[in-house]
Amino acid sequence: MDYVPLAQALADQLQQQGTPSHIARLFARVPRHRFLPDVMWGQDRTRYDRTEDPAEWLRIAYTDQALTTQRDDGRDGGMGVPSSSSSAPSVMARMLTAARIEPGHRVLEIGTGTGYHAALLSALLGAESVATVEIDGGLADTARAALYTAGYTPDVVVGDGELVETRYPTYHRIIATCTVSAVPWRWLEQIRGRGRIVTPWSPTPGAPGGVLAPLDMVTPDRAEGRFEGSLAFMWARGQRWPGQPAPAPDARAEHTETVAGDPREPWLDGERSLLLSLLRPGWTHGMRMEPGAAEPYVWLASTECESWARLHADGRVEQGGRRLLVEEARMAWLWWEAQGRPGVDRFGLTVDRDQGRQTVWLDGPQHAVWSVHRQLP
Ligand SMILES: C[S@@+](CC[C@H](N)C(=O)[O-])C[C@H]1O[C@@H](n2cnc3c(N)ncnc32)[C@H](O)[C@@H]1O
Repeated sequence: MDYVPLAQALADQLQQQGTPSHIARLFARVPRHRFLPDVMWGQDRTRYDRTEDPAEWLRIAYTDQALTTQRDDGRDGGMGVPSSSSSAPSVMARMLTAARIEPGHRVLEIGTGTGYHAALLSALLGAESVATVEIDGGLADTARAALYTAGYTPDVVVGDGELVETRYPTYHRIIATCTVSAVPWRWLEQIRGRGRIVTPWSPTPGAPGGVLAPLDMVTPDRAEGRFEGSLAFMWARGQRWPGQPAPAPDARAEHTETVAGDPREPWLDGERSLLLSLLRPGWTHGMRMEPGAAEPYVWLASTECESWARLHADGRVEQGGRRLLVEEARMAWLWWEAQGRPGVDRFGLTVDRDQGRQTVWLDGPQHAVWSVHRQLP
């Protein structure tokens, strides 16, 4: 089966969706399938094996979906948690567009994965202008080999992209393809002049979901920018949540009430729960089944103290710990309504290197919503 019409159709689709043509064309030029392993998983966790069904494997390679290429950091016997992937082409196109790359720029990518995105960058700028860092040595070796076979020779470095040295001391652009909640100092140091960092960013370490944060250097010690919609990526390894903050299933509630309607509602909607996490830092959420229950409950947990809540489909709200997270969420939501229900794109982020401070603001840096000090690597 010929990949060329498939790659061209993908590029056409991206252009129709609004991707600038010089970026969309890259997806026709660089063969994605040459960067994919023989076994991979689609967004719905379907397994695709090249040896079993080569035509289907190739077709899937040119669909607009993220393809998981490694699970459980490559270890056997895990839960199948994705640890590396080839991101969805439309997401790569969004990030390349947000980076506002110009001819002559040098670009550093954090998270080489398969090497496909580094190949797109190399096709755009010339491989000598591209460096890419991957924390997993095995993935980096495979990506380097695929890149070289496809004719691209960017600097592929094994190491922690939050700290490592690469080909050049400075870059005009940094594109991270893994989520952070603390933007590393090192990135601010490596950005040249008034350069730009494009990264998936989450208000809460380890929490689900995040936003696309393009950050411009406004002073040598400060990067700042408005979010461009939601964006879910896997976490930078060093910033994964170290523990499981979910409350123990048998944790005894200190406050209980029954409310009208389904209290889980805001947390079941990805956009609303993302907005809630932008309004206040330091909480995360998830879902869990109770034995015998027809529907799962939503748990909330503070990442800063022991506070937690369980929200049940039948209206029961249980809370424990010194912070009443459900009340905090209600207050935050009332504030959001009073501001005219702003969408994610009206919020933004300022990162101050000197104090390690990250500030989320609404409509401009002068209107801070909250500020936290995060230890930046
Ligand atoms: C979504 S995948 C990258 C997709 C990739 N750009 C591509 O086109 O295939 C995220 C990658 O980031 C890597 N990673 C996670 N933390 C990292 C870190 N601190 N430094 C460098 N790479 C990291 C993971 O091992 C994983 O391969």
